[in-house]
Amino acid sequence: MIFLKSDEEIELLRISNQIVAKTLGEMAKIVAPGVTTEYLNKVADEFIRDNGAVPGFLGYSGYPKSICTSVNEQVVHGIPSEKVVLKEGDVVSVDCGAYINGFHGDSAYTFCVGEVKPEIRDLLRTTKESLYKGIEQAQEGKRIGDIGFAVQDYCEKRGYSVVREMIGHGLGRDMHEAPEVPNYGRKGNGIMLKSGMVICIEPMINIGKRHLYFERDGWTTRTLDRKPSAHFEHAVAIRKGKADILSSFEYIEQVLGDKAI
Ligand code: MF3
Ligand code: CO
Repeated sequence: MIFLKSDEEIELLRISNQIVAKTLGEMAKIVAPGVTTEYLNKVADEFIRDNGAVPGFLGYSGYPKSICTSVNEQVVHGIPSEKVVLKEGDVVSVDCGAYINGFHGDSAYTFCVGEVKPEIRDLLRTTKESLYKGIEQAQEGKRIGDIGFAVQDYCEKRGYSVVREMIGHGLGRDMHEAPEVPNYGRKGNGIMLKSGMVICIEPMINIGKRHLYFERDGWTTRTLDRKPSAHFEHAVAIRKGKADILSSFEYIEQVLGDKAI
């Protein structure tokens, strides 16, 4: 069942997603060689709570941490750990959730750790651009397949592959609501988008093949071929005309300046 949100509920979702956006801005300040992903988790957890919210991921289906940190060939749902020390040339996707006023925020960004090879920066840039291609299609009267097609077409034309096993989702009082939002699809296919739907669009794009391996920790997914993957996610409200992006990368971009992807 798809829950359409009132204007008031969308404003509450904006509050949750803006806390996530600011948390990702804090991540941009501290991602660096030598930093552990557990430290990122600690800073994010404290920042979310200082803003009056609770981490939306912690305890969700038993998830043990407040953010997901997926390094290099890890695609999504990497678990922060003292043992994972970021090093020069890595990329790390930080996926963050905040829950406040009964509504979830959910957004993700892939950061460069120091200097990153141009071909991996290109992967990140293309993945981020594909997210905005998807968002362009997220309008009343279009269909879910239009979003997936836009993401897939943009990435595959540039030689990348699109992860199929993991997809975007509706967002609201639950972190994962209907509808499902695949990053692949056909134009004109799938459910019709209506004003008041709130969805997370989250392309996961690989340099190599699209196939995933599920690690034995029950969470972490990585590419089967161990080549790098990138992940960017926004929460958007469907409207007549342009989608209303409820999350934001502006705090990240303020910190990174012209080093941003
Ligand atoms: N942001 C993730 C998603 O979009 C949610 C993290 S899953 C959790 O599906 F269980 F770790 F919370
Ligand atoms: Co999500």
